[in-house]
Amino acid sequence: MAYHIVVLPGDGIGPDVTRAAVQVLEHALKGQSVEIVMSEHLIGGKALDTYGVPLPDVTLEALHKADAVLLGAVGGPKWDVGPGHLRPEAGLLALRKTLGVYANMRPVKAFSELLDASPLRREIAQRVDLLIVRELTGGAYFGKRERGSDAHGMQFAYDTMFYSENEIRRVLITAFDAARLRRKKLTSVDKANVLDSSRLWREIVQDVSSHYPDVEVEHQLVDSCAMNLVTHPQSFDVLVTENLFGDILSDEAAVLTGSIGMLPSASLGQGIGLYEPIHGSAPDIAGKGIANPLGAILSVALLLRYSLHVDDAATRVEQAVAKAIAHGARTKDLARGQDDVVTTDQMTERVLAHY
Ligand code: NAI
Ligand code: MG
Repeated sequence: MAYHIVVLPGDGIGPDVTRAAVQVLEHALKGQSVEIVMSEHLIGGKALDTYGVPLPDVTLEALHKADAVLLGAVGGPKWDVGPGHLRPEAGLLALRKTLGVYANMRPVKAFSELLDASPLRREIAQRVDLLIVRELTGGAYFGKRERGSDAHGMQFAYDTMFYSENEIRRVLITAFDAARLRRKKLTSVDKANVLDSSRLWREIVQDVSSHYPDVEVEHQLVDSCAMNLVTHPQSFDVLVTENLFGDILSDEAAVLTGSIGMLPSASLGQGIGLYEPIHGSAPDIAGKGIANPLGAILSVALLLRYSLHVDDAATRVEQAVAKAIAHGARTKDLARGQDDVVTTDQMTERVLAHY
């Protein structure tokens, strides 16, 4: 039986890094007993241009048969039009909701050869090794929202950070399970001094933690957590938080390793996994062939591990990336001074050469 993989390159640098990821995926499966069938579809800005919607029916239909989804990135200035228009990002949110992928896993680990690219001092940067588990299908990005104006013509807008007990519990279970496989420490991040949704979140953490007596639990408020991530990143193992806080903290954590272009993610939940680099469509470098494909390539490693269950191939992809870096390959975002700068395609070749 073959696994169906839906490939959604998207916009900007999305197609460049996705091409790299697909090449590595095909290479990694040579000689494996696992077979895949890939089909490519539109999402985001390109889907808006073609179908008038960011997640068209043809793409949705393909998702019904999918075992995993590999995504590039969506969005760009072309589609940044005023209020009342559909945006490419709406396609991504709808995709996550449709797939029911409520847990976004973002491993953040320093590569020893890239420490000079980190904004942190070497001795702090080298100890960065954490996993962010971000709730992905609830909170302010999906809650009730409205724009309007009152009787005096004064405009208003609101978004609601809504969470049900079930939405909180299921992502916490994913995070506790992950902590068990790591250093057995879980930091839950909220704003319980202000928000009711955070107070409920904290109560459920207490409840779920009773089933994981071997996992050490701590609570941090999101503002001080943002500070601790740069001052004491080594104090984190698994960090679990709601959608909006996780969006912000994971970009912050990402740069600790040197470049946002390095980091992969897996979004898991009700069966199908969604795999994507954490960066966006990077319009400032789109079309130049210089995007760092490693976040997308490392997302393939997560796809091999979580959806295709070929752990050895996943590990080999990760090792090939580490070796390419160790041998000096640097895309522009990673380069410092006199480094040997490679293009997206050259970086991919270097990774394949070390597989
Ligand atoms: P971004 O992540 O696209 O770019 C931020 C900065 O990082 C830019 O300077 C960019 O050149 C650089 N960068 C990002 N990925 C890189 C890579 N692989 N290699 C080298 N440099 C890289 O975030 P930004 O600029 O805030 O958003 C651009 C567009 O992407 C917006 O339309 C935004 O809504 C969308 N976006 C989409 C996401 C997704 O599809 N998952 C996630 C974040 C943003
Ligand atoms: Mg983000």
